[in-house]
Amino acid sequence: MEILHVAAECFPVAKAGGLGDVVGALPKYQNKLGAISKVVMPMYRTSFLIENEWQLVHEGGQFLGEQFFHYSVIREKTNRLGFDLYLVDINGLLDREKVYGYADDIERFLAFQITVCDWLKSWSRLPDIVHCHDHHCGLIPFLFKYADEFQSRLHNIPTVFTVHNAQYQGNFDWGKSVLLPSYDSWKWSMLDWHGQINPLAAAIKSSWRVTTVSHSYLQELRQQAAGLEKLFEYEKGKCSSILNGIDADLWNPEKDPYLLFHFTINSFEIGKKKNKEELCNNFQLDPALPLFCFIGRLVGEKAADLLPAAIQHAINRHKGKVNILLLGSGEKSIENELYHLQHSLGGYFKCSIGYQEALSHSMYAGADFLLMPSRVEPCGLNQLYAMRFGTIPMVRRVGGLKDTVIDMGDDGGYGICFNHASVEDISHSIDRAIALYSNEPTQMNHFRKLMMGFDFSWNKAAQLYLDLYKTLKY
Ligand code: ADP
Ligand code: GLC
Repeated sequence: MEILHVAAECFPVAKAGGLGDVVGALPKYQNKLGAISKVVMPMYRTSFLIENEWQLVHEGGQFLGEQFFHYSVIREKTNRLGFDLYLVDINGLLDREKVYGYADDIERFLAFQITVCDWLKSWSRLPDIVHCHDHHCGLIPFLFKYADEFQSRLHNIPTVFTVHNAQYQGNFDWGKSVLLPSYDSWKWSMLDWHGQINPLAAAIKSSWRVTTVSHSYLQELRQQAAGLEKLFEYEKGKCSSILNGIDADLWNPEKDPYLLFHFTINSFEIGKKKNKEELCNNFQLDPALPLFCFIGRLVGEKAADLLPAAIQHAINRHKGKVNILLLGSGEKSIENELYHLQHSLGGYFKCSIGYQEALSHSMYAGADFLLMPSRVEPCGLNQLYAMRFGTIPMVRRVGGLKDTVIDMGDDGGYGICFNHASVEDISHSIDRAIALYSNEPTQMNHFRKLMMGFDFSWNKAAQLYLDLYKTLKY
């Protein structure tokens, strides 16, 4: 079975968050299970592009509205990621340093999607499945079915669309519909949601199957989906959930190249201690104190706006007894607040504003606790990485966090869970964590060992996707 994944991110080529991790790992695991799984994504100007060798596989031209553009598709020559990786180059539109955040993102991803369709048309044997991820490729299932120049060749390809995060929908005004290739105008409503073209809604309407990345998130979407609740309710028959996995080769404390001190389930006490010392030294924090970390996008979804008050409260309440280290970037106002807080909190709070893959690994390994008070968390990978590195997750009961972390007060539990995204609930969970760290070190080690033994790898989920694809035949 041949699968083509289409996405805006894929680690290590380009990553802005968990989407990149998923697209960089799932195809590799699917190939290990005997499938032929490939990835196509935009060609950004990244170090991965410069450091690897590429083969030109296709060239063509297309239109974005009245504007003709030339494109090429290149393939990484050595299959070093464990799957064939194709990059779409559209001069001037995609080859930028960042993945998102440009004024012409709508045009960029529209041109990317049109190109993917045009390229696919040239394949002598079409893939058995096209699996699209998030709204940047949400129009592809529509274009396959209803675009005049694609539908005769691509109409029958089964499409799977995975919603990684319904907060982002890529919607734009109908005025820009002229940028789309001509399509069966009777089908305009397949593109529409509340008077706009909405690529996420179009994907849910047009693709053969829709998946989300945790069971609880699938249920939450019917109540809270940034305006798409009714659509998720209406289309529930084609929606299902497959919990994300992690790349257990990459996120592996035994051989993680970003760590100075490697450790196993049998040597985690000494291993984590050394990593913590190293991390604390680098940030002038006291390694004897419990170390709480937060890693992530500084946005409302992650409840990052609550962090300054919660951090201040925790450090004032537990004077001299707690360290907090934060890595993240996002809303400027939150970044500024956190940055200034460092100066007022007497060396107990440090933050690194920016995106640093290496530091994130050191933090998962060196932290005692990882905080995730998210308001919305479709799956969440951070808590899975934390557990793999023997770090106790402190999570709000929402989405994938609810499905992967059991509170230590419950049968078989190991993490700290709370109900509300509020300073009070975060503070209470910090109190619980400090009590565990100070009074029950044996119990804490028991939880660490338990979590390190879990298999959160993609093995299971990769098979579940293959099983789903097999039900879709044309
Ligand atoms: P989301 O995709 O919503 O941001 P996930 O928990 O699924 O959340 O995945 C986040 C991914 O991005 C993880 O791999 C995490 O380590 C990484 N990450 C987030 N922020 C940063 C940062 N500032 N520096 C390095 N890695 C980060
Ligand atoms: C999204 C979600 C996150 C999920 C990731 C990968 O970015 O916010 O919860 O883990 O996608 O599916």
